[in-house]
Parts: sequence; structure tokens; C-alpha cells
Amino acid sequence: MASEKNNLDPSIFIICGATGDLVRRKLLLALFRLFIRNELPNKFALVAFSRREWVDEEYRAFARDILLKLVTEEEKKYVSKFLNAIYYHRGHFDDQKSFARLQDLLLRIDRIFEVCANKLFYLATPPNYYMSIIENMDVIGLNLPCGGDKGWARILIEKPFGRDIDSARKLDKQLKKSFQEEQIFIIDHYLAKETIQNILAFRFSNHFLEPIWNKDAIEKIHIKMLEKDDIAGRGALYDDLGALRDVGQNHLLQMLALIAMDEPEGLKGEVLRIARAQVLSKLKRSEKKLKENVVRAQYRGYQNEQNIKLNSTTETYFRVTCEINNKRWSGVPFILESGKALSESRVSIKVYFKGKICRCYEVDHRVHQNTLEFRIQPNEGVALELWTKKPGLRFEVMPRILSFMYTAPEETSFDAYEKVLYDCFFGDQTLFQSTDEIEAAWKFITPILKCWHTLPLYQYEKGASITDQLTEYVN
Ligand code: BG6
Repeated sequence: MASEKNNLDPSIFIICGATGDLVRRKLLLALFRLFIRNELPNKFALVAFSRREWVDEEYRAFARDILLKLVTEEEKKYVSKFLNAIYYHRGHFDDQKSFARLQDLLLRIDRIFEVCANKLFYLATPPNYYMSIIENMDVIGLNLPCGGDKGWARILIEKPFGRDIDSARKLDKQLKKSFQEEQIFIIDHYLAKETIQNILAFRFSNHFLEPIWNKDAIEKIHIKMLEKDDIAGRGALYDDLGALRDVGQNHLLQMLALIAMDEPEGLKGEVLRIARAQVLSKLKRSEKKLKENVVRAQYRGYQNEQNIKLNSTTETYFRVTCEINNKRWSGVPFILESGKALSESRVSIKVYFKGKICRCYEVDHRVHQNTLEFRIQPNEGVALELWTKKPGLRFEVMPRILSFMYTAPEETSFDAYEKVLYDCFFGDQTLFQSTDEIEAAWKFITPILKCWHTLPLYQYEKGASITDQLTEYVN
């Protein structure tokens, strides 16, 4: 299972918010998988920082329970060894003394490693703690690398970065005051998904696409992120965010950026981040009235979930139609749609080419349109809908799908969080959001949030098709 030894320098991975939802669902597993693939440094420690009154052994037991539920039978035998690398640190994120004690613990581990180790701080707390964590790290000096070319300090921050454009700018100011650009890694794990990375590979290596990738040939593009799951116990956090902040400002807009950007000079590093930011900065809402291009809804029963404010108007579904104000896309609607507790789980981007009625079939007055769908999950792959002759005596046509499944062999498949952490260890910021991308995304989203309250909040039944229920508004 594990590959040969790697030569990564000794490192300490610190998780702020170590008992939260993200740690349970993604982070521990991602770190564990990197560990068994031997993609972590040989001298590695995980420091779990949280408020609970626990000691190392109690956190290890917590982590063991989580991992044993998630890993395969074959992987189980590595769990204990992984847990040995964990230290627990109890403290509060708004308390300077907790960070001073954290510093002591890190120095103790450095002494065990006999070197000033790399430090990677992961902010997995609710976003309202980010500011005080960064300030406290700054005061205590946790933002400072060891010196020379060894012992870097990096910070990984979960989305959403801020609540709107003003708070994002404020947070950015503090971040830039405390850290250098090369130390900052702002996560949108969608960028690290294999099938999302495939969008660029597919677009820019199949050259027949480029001449038709524009307003002359494309009628509209629909980007969907539909989830069967409801808010799954994340009540307080979700209620404070809502669907548009949770996934609209980040995952959906990043998918839009990749599908709509001009070809960058390279697919790595700053050029790619600049290309994503450029297209996002051209976003505007389509000319139609607000009520026609923005829909929000909440599933029935949401109000009874745990930790939801009384009479909450938080949306669990949205649909926003926008445009990109540049030569390539002007006038083409981009539909962004996402929701929880829906009838299916599906993430996809569907490109609708302009269709027409073919003059040659006198009896067939259908508009013959082609579509190209990027299936992000499930059934990862690409599907092109084409028209072909229907077998038979008459000359008729019918739509057929030309498709392939995008499956990676077991040993090369990885979760997006593994990729995020892996890239951060190597200092590669390509798949992380830049300040310019975040700023452009909030510039587009903030005005919508500001007028949320003027829009009706539709209700939908959990688990039923949204299009059937809100036909009038979402078709
Ligand atoms: C997270 C959102 O960023 O992405 C969740 O906060 C959402 O609400 C999740 O469920 C979906 O991620 P994935 O990788 O399971 O598609």
C-alpha cells in the first residue's frame, strides 16, 4: 500500500477546530490516506486544537472511531500507527494564552524532531473565528517561518472567506498583514476534484471546441450542484451561511470560471489563478428583473432542524442567472443552481449549443440542439448529445448520447482534500483561490445577498424534484 519513502521535511499539521464536521467527514481521512500512501513526511505530527477538555488519548479515541467507520478493511491495520502521531491541544480561538500554549507544544515537538519543523495551520472552525485566530497567531509569532530555507509556516483557510465583500476585504487585510502571499492557501476543494480539473484538460486539448466556445454557437450554460442530503447536523453554521454563501460564492463560481475562461498561457501557478479571476470579474446579473433571474427557496422542515433560528429565512436552494460581460460570452445566460434535500445528488455543467429546425426533414419540426455535459459527480464523465438517423425505412433522426465514464484506477484515485493537503505541503497554490478571485466572486454575490429579503422565499418538499415543485420559477 505505502510507496517508497518520500523526502519531505519534518512537518506539524495543526487543525484549529479539530472536532468539527469537516474533520469528521474529510480531513482525518484525507490525512490518513496520505499517511498510508507515504505522502506525509516521515517526521510528522498532527496537533488537534479544540475547546473540549480532552487529553491526547481522548482525541485519539475520537479519531479512531471516525476512521474505523470510513476506511477499508485493508486500511484498518494502519490506523493505530497514524493515531500515534496525534497530540491534542485544548484552548479557545479568541484567547491569546491558548496560542502561547500552542507555541510551547509546537516547540516541544520540534525538540523531539530535533529540527524546527514546517508548520501548517488549517482553519476548520466556523468562519467567524478566522479573524481572531489570525490575530492571535500573529501576536504569538506562529506566522513566522523558522528562518533560512527550512521550517516554513503556512495557513490553510476554508471557504467561505468572509460573509460579503466588506468582511472579506477586512479579513484579507489582516491576513496580508500577518502572512506573506506564498504562505496563504485559501481552499475551495472543488478546484481539486479530478473531474473539475478535467474541464480544462478537455477544453484546451480538444481543439475543435475553441472555435465554437462562444456566444455564436452556445445558447446557455447550466451549472448544477444538487444534493439529496439535507443540512446534516450543521444547523448553526448553515443557518448563518445559507446555500449561496456555502457553495454559490465558491464552488459554483469556480466551475463557471473554468468553463468560461480564456485559454491561459499555462495550466499551473499564477497564470491560471489570474485567468479565473479575470472571468469572474466580468460577471454581471442578466438584464431581466431580479425576480426572474434570482430564485431562493427553503425545504419544508428546515425550521425544525437543530440549532436553526426561529423563523429563519435562510435559503437551502438558489438559482441565479448571470452573464459574463466580455466579447466571448456577452448575452449568454449562465444558470447557477444548488440546493439541499433534493430528489437527486448531481453536480454537472451542461453546455447547450444553439439549435435549429433542419430544413431537410419536412416532417420533423423539432429544434435540433446539441448539448455537452461535464458530469462532475456521480457517473463522472463527459456526454455529448448528437442527432443521428433512426434505424428504419423512413428518414428520421433521433438524439443519441456519445459519452465516456471518467474513472481512475483504485490506486490513482484520491479525494479532493488529499490533493489540497498534498499541494499545500509542496507549496503549489494553483488549486487555491487568490484574493482577486475571492474579491470578484463577492462583488457579484454581495448585491444579491443585500436584496435577498425583497424576494419571495419559496418552500419545497424534502426529496421531491425541485423543477416539478417550482416549475414556474426555475424553468
Ligand atoms: C461543502 C459545503 O463545501 O461542499 C457542503 O459546505 C456541501 O454544504 C459539500 O455538502 C459538498 O462537497 P462534495 O465534495 O461532497 O461534493
